[in-house]
Order: sequence, then C-alpha cells, then structure tokens
Amino acid sequence: MDKLLITGGRTLEGEVPVSGAKNAALPIMCTALLTQDPLKLANVPALMDVRTMAQLLAQMGVEVGARSNGGIELRARTITNPEAPYELVKTMRASVLVLGPLLARCGQASVSLPGGCAIGARPVDQHLKGLQAMGARIEVEHGYLNARAERLRGARIALDLVTVTGTENLMMAATLAEGLTVLENAAREPEVADLARCLNAMGARIEGAGSDVIRIEGVRALCGAAHRVMPDRIESGTFLAAAAATGGRVRLLGAAPATLEATLQKLREAGARVAVAGDSIEIESDTRPLSVSLCTAPYPGFATDMQAQFMALDAIARGTALISETIFENRFMHALELQRLGADITIQGNTAVVKGVERLQGAKVMATDLRASASLVIAGLVAHGDTLIERIYHLDRGYESIEAKLAGLGARIERVN
Ligand code: UD1
Repeated sequence: MDKLLITGGRTLEGEVPVSGAKNAALPIMCTALLTQDPLKLANVPALMDVRTMAQLLAQMGVEVGARSNGGIELRARTITNPEAPYELVKTMRASVLVLGPLLARCGQASVSLPGGCAIGARPVDQHLKGLQAMGARIEVEHGYLNARAERLRGARIALDLVTVTGTENLMMAATLAEGLTVLENAAREPEVADLARCLNAMGARIEGAGSDVIRIEGVRALCGAAHRVMPDRIESGTFLAAAAATGGRVRLLGAAPATLEATLQKLREAGARVAVAGDSIEIESDTRPLSVSLCTAPYPGFATDMQAQFMALDAIARGTALISETIFENRFMHALELQRLGADITIQGNTAVVKGVERLQGAKVMATDLRASASLVIAGLVAHGDTLIERIYHLDRGYESIEAKLAGLGARIERVN
C-alpha cells in the first residue's frame, strides 16, 4: 500500500493550480442519469471518488467516456440497472446521490445503505423524508433502500437540519417532478449552486440555489449540456493552510476566492498576508502563526472539511486555540495522530483545546479519513525530520496529485510503496 514520506522544514514557494471540486463533480456526474442526452463535463478532478462514481454510473448502463480536454462525457441513453451496490456505496457515501435522479427518471431505485462511517453516523433520513413528501415509497430490505414512485410530485419540504447531499438529492429529483418543489432550510454551499447551474443548463427551472430556500419547477424532460465544474475550495484552503504553517509565499491559480471567505479570514487572523486578484489567491507568511479558534458551521460558516487542516496549523501556532466541531460527531481522529508528532491537544466533547508547541517531530502516522490525512500532510511539512503517512488511499479520494503539487512548491515529499 502506498505511503507518503515527508521531510519537514521547507517553506513553500511558488504557484499551484487548483483542481475541479470533488464535492461539485460527484453530484453533477449524477445529473447524467436525468437525461438520455450526453452531458459534457470539464474541470473534473482525477480522483478516486470520481472514478468510483464513474464506475457506479457505468454499471447502471451509463456510457462513460473521456474528452480530449481531460473532461468526461456521460450518456444515460437507457438505465439498465437502477441499483447502487454495497461494494461501491461502502467506499463512497456520496453514492447516495444517485437515489433522487434514479427515482425521478426510472420510478425506482435500489441503493445500499451507507452504514457507519469514520466521522460519525451520517444518516440519510432527510433525503428519505423529502423523497417521501414527493410521493416516493421507500422500504429498507436486506440493507438496501428500495424506492418506488410513479411520477414524483412537487412538494414543500422543510429540512430539519442543513444537509448538503440531502439538498442536492432532492433538488435533482424535483427537476423532473410534477409541479413546484420548495426546499426550505436548504444547504447554501457553493457546490449546491454549481449543481443548479448544470441542471439549469440542462433545461431545469431552479431558483434560489445558494440561498436557504430553493424553488424547483418540475419539467417533463431534461436535455444534454456542457458544464465546467467549479474550483475546489477545500483543496484551495488546504494549500493555503499549508503555506501559513510552513511560511513562504504561495499563489493559487484558478481558485474561487468568493467561496473561501471564512477560511481566508481565519488565515489573516493567524497572521498571514492574503491577497486576492481575480481567480488567484496569494498567501505570504514569514513568522510563526498565531492561534486561531474556530467553530465549524454550514456554509458560509467555517467548513468542517477545513477543521483538521487548521488543527495542524494551530498545533504549531503561538497561543491556545479552541476548535469546536458542530457538524460531525467523532471528527477529531486526526488529533490523536497529531499528538504522535508532538502536538498538545486535549479533546473535551466536541471541542479540541490546541496548545501550540514550538516544534513537531516527524513520526509514523496513519490517515483515518480524507481531511484528517490533509492535516497530517501539513503537520509533516512543518515537523522536524521524516513523517511517514500510512493509508493514504484516503488522500487519493479527494486530492489530485497532492504530492506533485506540493513538491512543485518546494516540499520534500514522495510516494513510497
Ligand atoms: C457533504 C460533503 C462533505 C462535508 C459535509 C458537510 C459531499 C460529497 N460531501 O457531506 O465533504 O463534510 O457535506 O459540509 O458533498 N444528517 C442527518 N440526516 C440526513 C443527512 C445529514 O442527520 O439525512 C447529518 C449528518 O449526519 C451530519 C450533518 O447532517 O451530522 C451534515 O451532513 P451533510 O451535510 O448531509 O453531509 P454530506 O452531504 O454527507
């Protein structure tokens, strides 16, 4: 199994291109299920999760092809098998995003329940509640959600909590429903808005995506479209946090600064100089960072997907930070690994107390989930000596060529077998 070997102590300098957003690409790929026509996507990141989604769609009968510009083309002329099997769902929870589109297009879907997940229980009750309000009948049989419906009907759905993929699933289902669907307490994440842009290009009638009330007027059929996936704000934030931790000067190219405001504000609080110009973001830092306390929240609050990376930054900062995680239970597993590198972190319920230490020391550590892996990479970049990160398949799920990009910025990092 691949590992990452990092020799810490180098500052990061240079330019790095931002990849397409994983969390936008995955739901957008599922929109192919809603039409017989081709969907042409650009700026799709080359990631394990994207390959898993392509595999999932292919086994349903979707034709998946590569485009010359590095993008992909998906075409669901017919759906032969409206099923998401356990083997794929267990490796990627976002597989549940096929449920809404399959039900809307085929009137039936069978999707394995995702089951436990390293960062908490992560139920899908809100997805089901919304689909049921649209007229779906859903049963759990042998670990699968079996859903059926004639044509879905538009409905007013007030979500009990903010859920990103729940909002996306219901928005996709509603595009082909009869009449108007209103989603209240919808997720405002930029990836939801990007999905709506793609759906509207396909002929859907969606208003309000990006706000907490989304109105979807159902149409009879959708057509093909071309869409460019938005830049990845979490990958962007990860590189910026790495540069703030190591010091140096890094410029991100092809970023979406407007989607990163909470992160940029925290980086400035940490003492970094951050400058935005068009789609580039430059960060410069030459002193030990200051501690920054934070509390995760749905967008536009501070992203839970950036929490682990900031814990690594706080681990070597001046002062003590309080980090509260309000979205997922059990999302502090990286704290234990950071402690192996010498970090001083105490967990009290959903809050981590991080006392900055002057130096971390390299050690063997284990990646436990995607963003936890990113925090270990940042810690490895600042630690003295060698850090060997095991189980980096988590990292490969969500970061495109991370070691090549960091090496391009001057980091000493290599993939070893
Ligand atoms: C998405 C992102 C993930 C990010 C998360 C929160 C994708 C593919 N993944 O995950 O990277 O960390 O948003 O920003 O976009 N919940 C329920 N019932 C439901 C649905 C959710 O109780 O039906 C709870 C979850 O357990 C969690 C919270 O709501 O505590 C938020 O989860 P949600 O926004 O649904 O996360 P995902 O969409 O799975």
